[in-house]
Formats: sequence, structure tokens, C-alpha cells
Amino acid sequence: MDACAYNPATMSLNDRRPGALVTGSSRGIGAAIARRLAALGYGVCVNFVASDAAARDQVRAIEATGGRAIAVQGDVASFADVERMVGMTAEAFGGIRIVVNNAGLSEHATVEGMTVEAWNRAVAVNLSSAFYAVKAALPYLRSEPWGRVINICSLRAMTGSDHGAHYAAAKAGLIGLTKSLALELAPAITVNAVSPGYTRTDMTRASLARHGEEILSRIPARRAAEPEEIAALVGFLASDDAAYITGETINANGGIYMS
Ligand SMILES: NC(=O)c1ccc[n+]([C@@H]2O[C@H](COP(=O)([O-])OP(=O)(O)OC[C@H]3O[C@@H](n4cnc5c(N)ncnc54)[C@H](OP(=O)(O)O)[C@@H]3O)[C@@H](O)[C@H]2O)c1
Repeated sequence: MDACAYNPATMSLNDRRPGALVTGSSRGIGAAIARRLAALGYGVCVNFVASDAAARDQVRAIEATGGRAIAVQGDVASFADVERMVGMTAEAFGGIRIVVNNAGLSEHATVEGMTVEAWNRAVAVNLSSAFYAVKAALPYLRSEPWGRVINICSLRAMTGSDHGAHYAAAKAGLIGLTKSLALELAPAITVNAVSPGYTRTDMTRASLARHGEEILSRIPARRAAEPEEIAALVGFLASDDAAYITGETINANGGIYMS
């Protein structure tokens, strides 16, 4: 175990740690997680599928604060792409200790209107991708003294959705995968899920613009989360201080459950 306790204020550039793969980290929550882990001393793989420029901006921002990062294009729905980005991360940073399965795809569709292709794509991007990343990264995770897998889930896993059954079902599956991996990979590797509620990103921009008042009225916190608030929770789960937490799904949703 690392001797140093979790203190984001002091743990940084002096602690050169191995690699952290953050899927879908060119924008939104993933980008905030990449910056957070880089600030904790990890060399970060900023993965993107289409936003080349945004990913390179993230790498520049991390490097500007003394951190280490690489941008890697790859579709998380492809095992070959995931294997390649895992290999590049391990090579660039001398190993992998953290995998954050963050890349996600949320499209509005009723089951009646949904194509089989849309269903399969949602399951591949939101669920199979996490299996791919862990499978590919496992030899590297196992060669570290300890490791972390953190899966970014969703409120919809618990509530269901009348306009995205594919997304809700895939995210619910991610909870089962989290618990199964936690059992299989213990004790050295912990596996947890973080389940955000409404968070201010491109994914929610349109719905918050259209139905913001109604949505916020259902959230006791009366606001959406900022990506950095989700990243802070991921930073804690990635730390040595969270070594006794595994198989959990931790909600960060402003209390929307209770309303
Ligand atoms: N925002 C919310 O309110 C909210 C709530 C609950 C859960 N979540 C979950 O949090 C995670 C991040 O969401 P977000 O709001 O930050 O999303 P976002 O703003 O739409 O960003 C999505 C990120 O994932 C990447 N991505 C999408 N498909 C990919 C693929 N096939 N392969 C590799 N990367 C891919 C995108 O890359 P490009 O830039 O290249 O397109 C981008 O970096 C997702 O898993 C989402 O389901 C979000």
C-alpha cells in the first residue's frame, strides 16, 4: 500500500504514480476525473472516440499543471481498441493501477421506437466496455501492490427510464458487474461504482435547458452537480483511504432519491 494518505491538497506532483485509464475523458465527467487523477500523481490516458481536439486540450491542461497524460482515440465498444489503449497507457506510464469506466452513451428512445442496433450499441458502450477494460487491464492491475476499478453508473440504473430502457438496463448491469468483479478481484483490487444524478455536461445540456426548472425542483440540492463533484468522489475511491470499500455503488445525486 502507498504510505501516503488521501489529501488532494498535498498529494500531487511529487507522487509519481503509474497509469490510470479513464475511458471517455475528453469531455464532461470523464475529463474532470482525468484532471483529478493527474493531480493525484497518476499518468492519465485521456480516451476519446471522436473529439480529438477536446482530448488534446485536456492533455494540455493536465501538462500545464505539471501532470502527465496522453490522448488515445478508441471506441470502448471494441475490445481491440480497448486492448490497444490499455497497452499504450501501461507503456507510457510504466503500469496501470486505476481503471475508470466512464464512457457512456445516452440516447432518447422508447422500446417501441428503438432499433436492435441502438440497443446493442448502448449495451456495448455502457456495459460491455467495462468488461473489456478490466479484462485487458487485469494483468497490469494484478502486478501493482493494489488496484482500483471504478465504474460510472447512473441514477437510471435504480429508477429505470421511460425514454432509455437500453441505457438504464446497461447501467443496472454495471452494478452486477461491479459486485462480481469486487468478489473476484479481492483483496488487492477494489471495484466500486459511482452513480451520478443530473450533472452539468453535454449529455444533459439539452434536457436541463428544456426542463431545467422541473428537474431542479425534484432535487433537494436544487441544482445539478458539477463534473468536479463526481470526480472528487472518484478520487477518494481511487485512494488508499478507500481500501476497505468494495462492491459498492455510491450515489451522488443531490438527494433526488428522497424526493
Ligand atoms: N451527465 C449526467 O447527468 C450523468 C448522470 C448519470 C450518469 N452519467 C454517466 O457519466 C458518464 C459520463 O457522462 P458525461 O455526462 O460526462 O457524458 P458526455 O458529456 O456526453 O461525454 C461523454 C464522453 O464519453 C466519450 N465516449 C462516448 N462514447 C464513447 C465510445 N464509444 N468510446 C470512447 N469514448 C466514448 C466521449 O468522447 P468524445 O468526446 O470523443 O465523443 C466523451 O468524452 C457516462 O457513463 C454517463 O452515462 C452522466
